[in-house]
Amino acid sequence: MMQKERTFAMIKPDAVQRGFVGEIMSRFEKKGIKIVAMKLVAVDRKLAEKHYGVHKGKPFFEPTVKYIISSPVVAMVLEGVNVIEMVRAMTGATDPQKAAMGTIRGDYGQFIGRNIIHASDGKDTAQFEINLWFSSDEIASYQRIDEDWLTE
Ligand code: CMP
Repeated sequence: MMQKERTFAMIKPDAVQRGFVGEIMSRFEKKGIKIVAMKLVAVDRKLAEKHYGVHKGKPFFEPTVKYIISSPVVAMVLEGVNVIEMVRAMTGATDPQKAAMGTIRGDYGQFIGRNIIHASDGKDTAQFEINLWFSSDEIASYQRIDEDWLTE
């Protein structure tokens, strides 16, 4: 039995404003990825600065914080085998100009400072971001009826 893992993803303000929440969630659902937590959040500066803490001091830190607090985001925890890498692959390169067509950023984005979605880039980051955005009682453990068909 392959080990399931969890990752954090956030649909950013531009994508919420442009009405892409359903389309993006639909991609994850169709891929067979399980949503175990999800909420619309009007992000405050403190949370945004913690989330992007590793980028503090970089020139894009302040504009990125401003972008994330400019309008609500949809935060979620996704679960599945190899889900961290899979969601990163579905998300595409950080710069939508360089992201492959067929990826979320490649299909919907144009600028690095308006790049539609965030997804954790590794195991430690995923753990940090899940704990930052969600309390344990906001994360659901449940069985989906298609799970038998999503394993081999
Ligand atoms: P994200 O994957 O959320 O992680 C860091 C974010 O900073 C990135 O997506 C972009 O939204 C933003 N950003 C803006 N400019 C840059 C840059 N030059 N390099 C990396 N990230 C950038």
